[in-house]
Amino acid sequence: MAAGPGDPGLLTLAGHAALAQSRFVLAPATFRRSFAALLEGKEVESPFQMAHASVVAWVEERLPRGGVTFLLPGDFGSFSPFQSFVAHFGDRARVVPGVGAHAAAAAVLKKTFDLAGVAHATVLTSPRAFTAEGRVRLARYAQPGHTLVVYMNDLPLPRLVEELREGFGRDVPIALLEELSCPGERVTCGTLGTICDLVGDRDPFGIDSSNPEPTLALVVAGEALGADEDPSWWDRRYEKLWKPRGVR
Ligand SMILES: C[S@@+](CC[C@H](N)C(=O)[O-])C[C@H]1O[C@@H](n2cnc3c(N)ncnc32)[C@H](O)[C@@H]1O
Repeated sequence: MAAGPGDPGLLTLAGHAALAQSRFVLAPATFRRSFAALLEGKEVESPFQMAHASVVAWVEERLPRGGVTFLLPGDFGSFSPFQSFVAHFGDRARVVPGVGAHAAAAAVLKKTFDLAGVAHATVLTSPRAFTAEGRVRLARYAQPGHTLVVYMNDLPLPRLVEELREGFGRDVPIALLEELSCPGERVTCGTLGTICDLVGDRDPFGIDSSNPEPTLALVVAGEALGADEDPSWWDRRYEKLWKPRGVR
């Protein structure tokens, strides 16, 4: 079940019900802390300290005795390494949607990423994505008209900025969002020209860190962050789409 970016308040009602009904839970450390009240009385284990076959065996062994919930960070639809478990359990698996980090970022920034007249595509990617070719080149996706959302960045900030500038072709707005919806939430907004100075010596991506917990940092870049939608776009939709069809 997708558990959102960290705050139990961002769990869906369906997720809350599924968790309440389960006796056994697989949950990363961050959720074991923030969801402590919801996990009381349940047997809880970290999935990240077991190989695939052991996770499957852990779940299979408990299923006859009660419901098992797997708490996934954010949403299942982006950068979730759990597809193979859904395939294994087939009809016995149910996926509950959740709030992805990019949705939490849009809310904190109060920005729609596909903004009429400004950006027509939101690209979710990561330089660390697992591809046959190896590393993803962000410049390929950082294009005018796109809002780029970078998950799991492992490039030093100046290098990330360089790749984004190469793609966008100019110093577009950029936001760095750390620990969204968690107690340490921190948001830094600037442009590709200013962000390195604004972040200074900090290492928000934990590149040189040996901390056993994953670093939670998301990057969003593109013109949409610095723009607002012209109100006439509402009227265009109203006149061309909603009014002719009597949309209610
Ligand atoms: C393995 S991916 C999981 C993404 C998740 N499936 C989602 O939909 O948000 C982990 C990455 O998601 C981003 N992330 C997840 N939770 C976050 C949070 N609370 N604040 C900032 N970034 C977060 C970070 O980029 C982190 O490196």
